[in-house]
Amino acid sequence: MRPSSRLAAALLASALLLGLGLFGQQRPFQPNLNSPQVAAAVARLMPKLNTRQKIELLAGYTGPGYPHGMFTHPFKQFGIPGLKMSDASVGVRVWGPSTAYPASVALAAAWDPALARREGAAVGQDARARGVHIVLGPGMDITREPQCGRNFEYLGEDPDLAGQIGAAWIEGLQSQQVAACAKHYAGNEQENGRNSVNSIISRRALEEIYLAPFRTAVLQGHVMTLMAAYNRVNGRFSTDNSYLLTQVLRRQWHFKGVMMSDWGATHATLACLTAGLDLEMPDNSYYNAGKIMPLLHSGKLPMSNINQHVRRLLRVMAAMHFLDRPQKDASLPLQNPHSAAVALAVESEAVVLLKNQNHALPLDPAHLRRIVLVGPDVAPAVTGGAGSSFTRPNVTPVSLLDAVRAAAPSAQVAQIPYPYPLRSLRHWWQHLAPASAAGPMFTVRQRDAIRRADVVIAGIGPREGEGWDRPYDLPGRQNAYLQAVAQLNPHLVAVLYAGANVGMSAWIHQVPALLDAWYPGENGNTAVAGILFGKLNPSGKLPDSFSRRWNDEPAFGHYPGHDEHVHFAEGIFVGYRWYDSKHIAPRFPFGFGLSYTTFAIHPLSVHAAGSGRRRRVTLTARITNTGARAGADVVQLYVRPPHAAGVVRTFQQLRAFQRVELAPGASRTLRLRLRWRDFAYYDTAANAWRVPAGSYGLAVGDSSRSIAGVLPVHMP
Ligand code: BGC
Repeated sequence: MRPSSRLAAALLASALLLGLGLFGQQRPFQPNLNSPQVAAAVARLMPKLNTRQKIELLAGYTGPGYPHGMFTHPFKQFGIPGLKMSDASVGVRVWGPSTAYPASVALAAAWDPALARREGAAVGQDARARGVHIVLGPGMDITREPQCGRNFEYLGEDPDLAGQIGAAWIEGLQSQQVAACAKHYAGNEQENGRNSVNSIISRRALEEIYLAPFRTAVLQGHVMTLMAAYNRVNGRFSTDNSYLLTQVLRRQWHFKGVMMSDWGATHATLACLTAGLDLEMPDNSYYNAGKIMPLLHSGKLPMSNINQHVRRLLRVMAAMHFLDRPQKDASLPLQNPHSAAVALAVESEAVVLLKNQNHALPLDPAHLRRIVLVGPDVAPAVTGGAGSSFTRPNVTPVSLLDAVRAAAPSAQVAQIPYPYPLRSLRHWWQHLAPASAAGPMFTVRQRDAIRRADVVIAGIGPREGEGWDRPYDLPGRQNAYLQAVAQLNPHLVAVLYAGANVGMSAWIHQVPALLDAWYPGENGNTAVAGILFGKLNPSGKLPDSFSRRWNDEPAFGHYPGHDEHVHFAEGIFVGYRWYDSKHIAPRFPFGFGLSYTTFAIHPLSVHAAGSGRRRRVTLTARITNTGARAGADVVQLYVRPPHAAGVVRTFQQLRAFQRVELAPGASRTLRLRLRWRDFAYYDTAANAWRVPAGSYGLAVGDSSRSIAGVLPVHMP
């Protein structure tokens, strides 16, 4: 080969390698609603649709081949597909069995945006395998109180953490050319009365807490669609709330995508169309020609309004390439081993070790002859919470019992069935009567088996799901049951399956070790057992504060409201912002989680540059694994504002974090970056973000209550 042809061959090879993404990362697909191609596609299609067809495009459609209330109207003659949708947060659930991932709150507990991106991409592939255009997630409401039945579908109590994890998940999902739908916008912080409850929330709390994750989804995640919630916000339904749908979403955040209603959350035609709701789902009860044509004829509604909604829908279709190729990718398997591996990876990072007295964990399988499992959530597996997110896996899910048996093959492992009835998560719509207090807890043989066990592992949890809130305390006599088990055998380890905190005062002092497994999805119990028996080192950190008692909570006294009104009277004092500012000790603080190794964090220096909104601050810190085994920790940076006259601030706010994996003895230097906005509060009187001048503390640690040091930075 001549030198010039050798050079050409080498160039070609490297170009191919670059194309394949082998040299560095191939840039993942990111939709662009502003591209000239999108504008051209919209301009081409708009004149083809007549007014009736445009109206049909703005509502859900059910017909032959378009079942389940999960489609928009197709116009095959113009190449416009009926957009196929599916829930969502923990797997592609509507179209047959599919990989069931751990609960969204588990993903937040991993504090790992890269992992969230991987999970989003895997869900995207599951969606493409089924021809799904829009996945109805992520859930981005804030965990305001632990009772909310859908906390497990959300991303915790902190707007920055929820925003970062949610935006990364959206990027991953959309990289597969599947549109995400951030929900439920907004103020859907409880399920109690969700269809009509009026969430009364101050402007400041909306801006700083409740809308903030959605803002990140729009500005950073480039989310293609949002879902307006069932409830009202400050007197108006979310679906006809022009403050939420137009003022904030369109004017402040410049959102160009589609705003759809939650299923059956539309209650008006004119009010919703003018407030900014583009798409009524799942049917056309309000967005139909019979209702809209007279409005157009009478001049109450300009045609430009309908055109604008239609344009938004077409824009999303064009930007996501829904118009130029089939959405179904038959080369992808319905049962994808890659998805299952991602699901397991999420749970491996998500499990939080909350308590480990006298190194009760990890267990050594070689020294255990008899293991007894008790409690309602041992087997069959509790894979997720109930409701529209519930995903039927395409494999038999791994129960805690299966996972313990596999991890300790030489031990005798027995399950003692839980004696009291609980609401079934599989048949969540069937309301069971409250658990009866009657009946003995154990037979004589069971009592004996518990006494003789080398260790007792309890699988416990509330019954959570869409459409209802649950009590603070564990239901079905689990408190008394745990106490009774602990009295028979103090070698007790509890595994909690829940979307948020539960009351623990009755038993926590009798339980030496406690893991929070959230909901582990189809195979996550393998990770739980990996942690119980020391194969894995726990690294999950709480995305919520776990209070000692309900009376300590910020929403206590203001939840679930009266006469369909719930006043978010705690304002911006949500989660740790409340406990830290009010000097109330939570049982387990925000950001907390134990490990089998130890870490030392040293804040090193702060560098600040630029002025005004261009100011950038970088904090450098060093973290060392000071223990004997490999593990991961999450370095967290909290901004502590100075006292400024007349301005109410919370004690500290999480503004940056980084998960770090380290071999024993290894160290890493990290740079955590802050922007002007990370120091700001929302000034309601001026409707603007402000940073009062002064010296701010930058607190670095591995939980909101475990701060290694505080370095000052001046904000001019
Ligand atoms: C839920 C949404 C869900 C929709 C479609 C509603 O009841 O609130 O989260 O996406 O149903 O299943």
